[in-house]
Amino acid sequence: MATNGSSLSRPLGLLAELTHRCPLGCPYCSNPLALDKRSDELDAETWARVFREAAALGVLQVHLSGGEPAARRDLEQIVKAARGAQLYANLITSAVGITAERMHALADAGLDHVQISIQDSDEKSADRIAGYDGASQRKRALAAEVVKLGLPLTVNMVVHRANIERIEPMVELALALGASRVEIAHVQYYGWAMKNRAALMPTREQVERAVKDVEMLRQKHRGHIVIDAVVPDYYARFPKPCVGGWGRRSLNVTPAGRVLPCHAAEIIPGLEFWNVREHSLDDIWRNAPAFNAFRGDDWMQEPCRSCAMKEKDFGGCRCQAFLIAGDARVADPVCHLSPHHALVEELAQVRADTAYAYRG
Ligand code: FES
Repeated sequence: MATNGSSLSRPLGLLAELTHRCPLGCPYCSNPLALDKRSDELDAETWARVFREAAALGVLQVHLSGGEPAARRDLEQIVKAARGAQLYANLITSAVGITAERMHALADAGLDHVQISIQDSDEKSADRIAGYDGASQRKRALAAEVVKLGLPLTVNMVVHRANIERIEPMVELALALGASRVEIAHVQYYGWAMKNRAALMPTREQVERAVKDVEMLRQKHRGHIVIDAVVPDYYARFPKPCVGGWGRRSLNVTPAGRVLPCHAAEIIPGLEFWNVREHSLDDIWRNAPAFNAFRGDDWMQEPCRSCAMKEKDFGGCRCQAFLIAGDARVADPVCHLSPHHALVEELAQVRADTAYAYRG
């Protein structure tokens, strides 16, 4: 296991969850089921210190996320602090609740890049997925402001059964909005998405068509928009190198200051997370028990331990291993070599047209 030694890699990205408050209720929200309270949120000065420590640790980019980061009245101050620490500041926003004036103020504060989530190209469906009437219109209006300000825009599209047939119009919408990049992410089944799995799960035929659509759209729009897309977990043969490997590339700080190796890590029982209120980021990166739990390959079991892919996929996702197989130390069951892989195939068959359990 890599701990204090020189083999310890340096993190490149910091996901700063500034708040769990959000006007939307997306049924696949990556926030935990138990949300941090507003009264527990870190103040802007503490975030400024965290950003300085992150930069000293090697972090290059900070993703200002939530919840909805604009729910923080001091977001401009936080953006300034990120830039003051020489970090590339990326705002990941629902776009709901940010006025044109506020967007200008955020640009003046030094924002480098904006990511806006789009739920669907069909407005009615988009608002239904977000659980918020009028969300789609507001997103389109804010995207126009971002482009007017000359900030690079990425559109995030989360794909699932209700919108997977409309990948093409969604990419066309991203182009029309002036985005230079679109991230197509199939729902990942943790937390809220796990609760809504049967309602969100696409069919194999839909997924296969979606993969072809993405390839066609890449060819069609080459040179105009970059399309990043990942095959959905439950239909993959190989696992994703989740978060670039546990404790290797990124840190996630919750609104209340707990530092996690990935957004879902708190679901794994027995891990000890440290808080930026009590420890420096450097100390946490090197020594926090949660970060060292799955570094290196000492923790691996077969088939991962002797697998040539372990340097590339790091055994897949620890949280998914726990959620599906009940043990965070086993191979990600998405891997076709996992003894638990049949479970993934079974779960992908479970679909129900039930109402969403919207994020609280
Ligand atoms: Fe936690 Fe993949 S989401 S390791």
